[in-house]
Amino acid sequence: MPAQGSSSARDGALDGQVAFITGAGSGLGAAYARRLAADGATIVVNDLDPDAAAAVAVEIDGDVCVFDVCDSAAFDAEVDKAVARHGRLDVMINNAGIAPPPDPERTERMIAAQMLRMEGRIAEMEPMGILTGMTDEAWDRMIRVHLYGAFYGTRAALRHMQPARSGVIVNVSSILGHHPSPGAPHYATAKAAIIALTRSVALEVAHLGIRVNAVCPGYVDTPLLAPLDATLRAAITMQIASGRMAQPEELAELVRFLSGPESSYCNGDVFTASGGYA
Ligand SMILES: NC(=O)c1ccc[n+]([C@@H]2O[C@H](COP(=O)([O-])OP(=O)(O)OC[C@H]3O[C@@H](n4cnc5c(N)ncnc54)[C@H](O)[C@@H]3O)[C@@H](O)[C@H]2O)c1
Repeated sequence: MPAQGSSSARDGALDGQVAFITGAGSGLGAAYARRLAADGATIVVNDLDPDAAAAVAVEIDGDVCVFDVCDSAAFDAEVDKAVARHGRLDVMINNAGIAPPPDPERTERMIAAQMLRMEGRIAEMEPMGILTGMTDEAWDRMIRVHLYGAFYGTRAALRHMQPARSGVIVNVSSILGHHPSPGAPHYATAKAAIIALTRSVALEVAHLGIRVNAVCPGYVDTPLLAPLDATLRAAITMQIASGRMAQPEELAELVRFLSGPESSYCNGDVFTASGGYA
């Protein structure tokens, strides 16, 4: 079934607003940037990859902003610069993210374990070795990019949104933050923690007219998933009731909703869009 397309007509609902989007050089972040720009927002396009950020920024007439979201000083400085340049910050989307590198042996072990479980041959199942084989560095980087990135971005944005007594923050979690799979415990942990961060901060700032929500995409066809081989893609798709992965534009509609006045009563809320992933 084809994905539902998004409206690309410029409707001006976000005219004059400024949105800062991390990891906006690719995939979902780029789709969020295009969608908010189509409704009139000026976008600050952050990414680690300068060429990717520049390509998206040129397309939507946004600002290029290259830094690592794990660098809190750079994050603060770049948000301050954006506010100095544009005079305001209306929307912060903490989206930058990474996936574990492909590991065909790990995939094979997971699929073999799944087959044995389906056949009830539990005693024959071997350790998958995912957590025990994980290095400190792999754990640390995953938590830093996702959770620390969302913390730094939320904090930097609130320093401007609190005095203005308005603003919207959207934190990008994942369906795996709700419903972890065994392959990436560090990813699932970071994404679950982002949900707690979102809810906690929303309770702190709601009375100031600031809204903080989280989105939990299911599997979306972006470069992040490019390393998945056909077997793993098929295994994932079998778990999706809609029978396909999402297109980034479909998630962009949800993020556009949460970024604008249409979602005025959404605060501390967590929005799943997974096609019925189970
Ligand atoms: N694709 C999916 O199926 C899926 C599902 C659920 C959640 N997500 C989440 O959505 C977000 C975007 O994922 P995507 O699928 O668009 O991935 P993507 O790989 O297409 O894009 C991610 C972008 O983030 C940038 N980035 C990575 N680390 C960074 C850092 N430290 N600082 C700044 N930029 C950095 C990358 O350069 C890249 O351009 C991630 O947080 C991801 O975990 C994706």
